[in-house]
Amino acid sequence: MKVAVVGTGYVGLVVGAGLAETGNDVVCADVDAAKIASLRQDRIPIFEPGLEPLVVRNQKEGRLTFTTDVADAVRRSAVVFIAVGTPPDEDGSADLQHVLEVARTIGQNMTGPKTVITKSTVPVGTAERVRAEIAKHTRTAFYVVSNPEFLKEGAAVDDFMKPDRVVVGVDSPEAREVLNELYAPFVRTGKPIIFMDIPSAEMTKYAANAMLATRISFMNQIALLCEATGADAHLVRKGIGSDARIGSAFLFPGPGYGGSCFPKDVKALIRTGEERGVPLGILQAVEAANDRQKHVLFEKLSRRFEGRLAGRTIAVWGLAFKAQTDDVRESPALVLIEALLGAGVRVAAHDPAAIETTRRVFGDRITYGEHPYDVIAGADALAILTEWLEYRTPDFPKIHKLLRRPLIVDGRNLYDPERMAKLGFTYDSIGRAPV
Ligand SMILES: NC(=O)c1ccc[n+]([C@@H]2O[C@H](COP(=O)([O-])OP(=O)(O)OC[C@H]3O[C@@H](n4cnc5c(N)ncnc54)[C@H](O)[C@@H]3O)[C@@H](O)[C@H]2O)c1
Repeated sequence: MKVAVVGTGYVGLVVGAGLAETGNDVVCADVDAAKIASLRQDRIPIFEPGLEPLVVRNQKEGRLTFTTDVADAVRRSAVVFIAVGTPPDEDGSADLQHVLEVARTIGQNMTGPKTVITKSTVPVGTAERVRAEIAKHTRTAFYVVSNPEFLKEGAAVDDFMKPDRVVVGVDSPEAREVLNELYAPFVRTGKPIIFMDIPSAEMTKYAANAMLATRISFMNQIALLCEATGADAHLVRKGIGSDARIGSAFLFPGPGYGGSCFPKDVKALIRTGEERGVPLGILQAVEAANDRQKHVLFEKLSRRFEGRLAGRTIAVWGLAFKAQTDDVRESPALVLIEALLGAGVRVAAHDPAAIETTRRVFGDRITYGEHPYDVIAGADALAILTEWLEYRTPDFPKIHKLLRRPLIVDGRNLYDPERMAKLGFTYDSIGRAPV
């Protein structure tokens, strides 16, 4: 099939490369000329495991091309995915300007019947707005589909190529057939394509992210209570996670959820509730708990230094909002670093993938190390923010020697407190008694 994917970010690039891999003729379009230029030279602008070989192979074989000419990409294609960003507007609602701009371009370039698929996360009713925007500019027949994306950054290629399920909102048999054909290669193991009406598909994406964010905030609050009562959140997590009704995923206490999706999608759903007169108290609490959680590590550090943080140096391991990505959008590390800088602390940071994205936020206000141990030398404490594998079994004696004070504040519970005590560290993690 001839497919255009408009918006070549974390989602659009993976979708485009994945659809090319199954034999489609895909053009990825983006207004960011630098991004398109580097992709044409096989340079992948984001860190995403497994993505580079997919892009390189399909570009070489001519099934995947890149352009800044969105109109031309639309004209050439029978299927158009809209995968542009939907950042939060000032009131928390999803800002649809990019989605509607693409819809307008589609309407103005309808060379023949097309299936237009919203892949971006958009509130209920957006497909209808896309339909109306296209229809303003053309009389050619077209179909509108909602096909929210559930991939996780860090495992995006796997998630797209082997999805748990594909959700498709359609209102015509013709569009249903197109989506069936596009996704058939990805669901050969029997995973379902779940067809539904368009509003339900749009809502499904928000409900999924809101549920996951809820589990995280719930567990973070239980962890705070564990700390206050002497219970161990690690054991409590195991205890509840083995209940089949609860399940073990997304129950790790941590420094708060970040990323480009949960924070903005929870906000947008709260906003939708307000607009429709359905207050979503649960999600308001989820958001408040998360905002609070992002300050927990700073408070722990501040307590350890009895409020006298000014002039100290804190090493930070992990800047990305989670492991296996370079994405620092809404990352808890940014909140901690901002608070530390505000308290007069020098920050030396390491991350295996997210130095460049962090540099765009802090510039020279902090220093960056190429290796994890570079940033520890002479620091007064180490704070761990991201669960990168390479932080899991570090050289503890070396850390002990390099730190001015053997203090580790761990937002990811990477180490065993008893062992850390034996190694001579003061070790403060989430939901477990400090040692
Ligand atoms: N990142 C994720 O893990 C994830 C997962 C599922 C769904 N989503 C949703 O997918 C959408 C895209 O997210 P993302 O993380 O890929 O965003 P992103 O910011 O990485 O990429 C968006 C891209 O769209 C481009 N763009 C903006 N306006 C454009 C226009 N008018 N024409 C062409 N290109 C344009 C930008 O230049 C950018 O490259 C969002 O709605 C997001 O909520 C994201």
